[in-house]
Amino acid sequence: MKGVRVDRLLSSMGYGSRSEIAQMAKAGRIALEGAPLLNAASHIAVTDDLPSRMTIDGAPLDPLPGMVILMHKPIGLVCSHTEAGPRVYDILPDRWRRRVPPISTVGRLDKQTSGLLLLTDDGALLHRIISPKREIRKTYRATVSRALTGSEGALFASGQLLLNGETKPLAPAELEVVSDTEALLTVVEGRYHQVRRMFAAAGNHVETLHRERVGGLVLPPDMAAGDWNLLAAHEVAAIFD
Ligand code: URA
Repeated sequence: MKGVRVDRLLSSMGYGSRSEIAQMAKAGRIALEGAPLLNAASHIAVTDDLPSRMTIDGAPLDPLPGMVILMHKPIGLVCSHTEAGPRVYDILPDRWRRRVPPISTVGRLDKQTSGLLLLTDDGALLHRIISPKREIRKTYRATVSRALTGSEGALFASGQLLLNGETKPLAPAELEVVSDTEALLTVVEGRYHQVRRMFAAAGNHVETLHRERVGGLVLPPDMAAGDWNLLAAHEVAAIFD
């Protein structure tokens, strides 16, 4: 097997330009199974265990392309690559922002929404998760400014609710009332500001919004806002449960 050129791989992972990586290799900063890999033009097999076999300056190689990150998104960060202001990407290691393909959020949470956010560099996976056909369930905990009337559940479940400015009704959603001003809402779509607009359509106003679940993945209750971790393959599979 021919494998992948080391300079091409490391450059796509944000370690530097191909010429910088050639210099790093010459300087003995790249090692494979403990031995310096001096020629960055050499080819290596990219196996899942490469990050434990290759080191850069003595540190294990970053995760290979195909990573999935679960983040507890804090309030105040934007999910966009282009919008001004602090971004969720700023929480990740600097080098990861230079990766190609880039790491992107799987859908978006508003700046003022917290909770479970997935990020990946795997475009096909991203599209599978956000595809409306898959109907991945997303559960949000919302607090609202006015007491719930008791009619919201039927409205949201009706499959008839039209959001302001739209022509296609929302798919049925499930509401579980927690208290007068707090509820869990599970939706299968990901329209722009969907949950806030749903409560607005019911004559209410969302004060706080937090996503607790995406498919079979639940935000670990002990995970602090701003923390993140890489998902193992079985956890990624749980998204589709
Ligand atoms: N619905 C919203 O209104 N905002 C979000 O961030 C997610 C869903």
